[in-house]
Amino acid sequence: MRDETPALPDGMITPGLAARLRERVVARLSEALAGFGPPFDGAMTARIPDLVAGFDALYARRPVRETKGGSGYNDSLTLSVLAGLLQPALIVESGVFRGHTTWLFRQACPHAALFCFDPAPEYRIWSAEGARYFGEDWSAVPVPLPEGGAGQALAFFDDHVSQARRVREAWERGFRLLLFDDNFPAEHLYATGVPPVPTLAMLQDGSLTDGTEIVWRRNGRERRYTYSEADTDGAAALLDRVLVLPDLAPLTRHPPQSNLTLVRLVA
Ligand SMILES: C[S@@+](CC[C@H](N)C(=O)[O-])C[C@H]1O[C@@H](n2cnc3c(N)ncnc32)[C@H](O)[C@@H]1O
Repeated sequence: MRDETPALPDGMITPGLAARLRERVVARLSEALAGFGPPFDGAMTARIPDLVAGFDALYARRPVRETKGGSGYNDSLTLSVLAGLLQPALIVESGVFRGHTTWLFRQACPHAALFCFDPAPEYRIWSAEGARYFGEDWSAVPVPLPEGGAGQALAFFDDHVSQARRVREAWERGFRLLLFDDNFPAEHLYATGVPPVPTLAMLQDGSLTDGTEIVWRRNGRERRYTYSEADTDGAAALLDRVLVLPDLAPLTRHPPQSNLTLVRLVA
């Protein structure tokens, strides 16, 4: 007899088992976001199961298939759930690359204004209709907050630029909720090509002092960074809440990634 089972996209599994995996993902994300506090409340986090349930089918039809240098399954899932919950009226994306995360934002928030920044547009293979694209650094372009104010805006930084600098800029421009990729602690700087130093984790690492030299090797090359108070831009004082989002790799067994970090800035 012919097997009538529909083909499953890569990474999908029999529905009953997929539901078991989803329950674990929902539990981890719900717990983490509830602990973050505002703007997440019970009504908002109650929507996580539906968002997680819809994700595999969404991811299966992603137009950007190559994940090297961009977000893969785990970070895409977290980003998609966050955007779906927050429904910001304005999303700033700094670090577009091929356009995969722009696509995720557009799917989760079809009506959001998208301001997308990347100095290398030649790599972009998917563009969001209605989005505004810029080759300049976001700090050089006016980005008006939506009518509803900072509570309606989300800024996403995946651009490998100093996270301290991005915190300072975002705060000065009125943004209060930020999402970062590549928030590596000092001992993991070898894990990405150009770490966005000083990272959020480094701002919160009491063992780093002015002049601390960090040396690492990546792809056979020695790299170094000297931590300096001047480089931190006073950003540590602007952080109200920093949540390293759960690493979903041990749950999903999709390859581990940099992990996203959600930040609320002080008023
Ligand atoms: C890791 S990729 C972004 C991946 C993308 N967010 C995704 O997951 O599909 C980093 C991108 O940041 C861009 N970039 C470098 N400097 C930048 C800057 N000052 N502003 C915005 N983007 C920048 C690079 O050109 C590169 O395309």
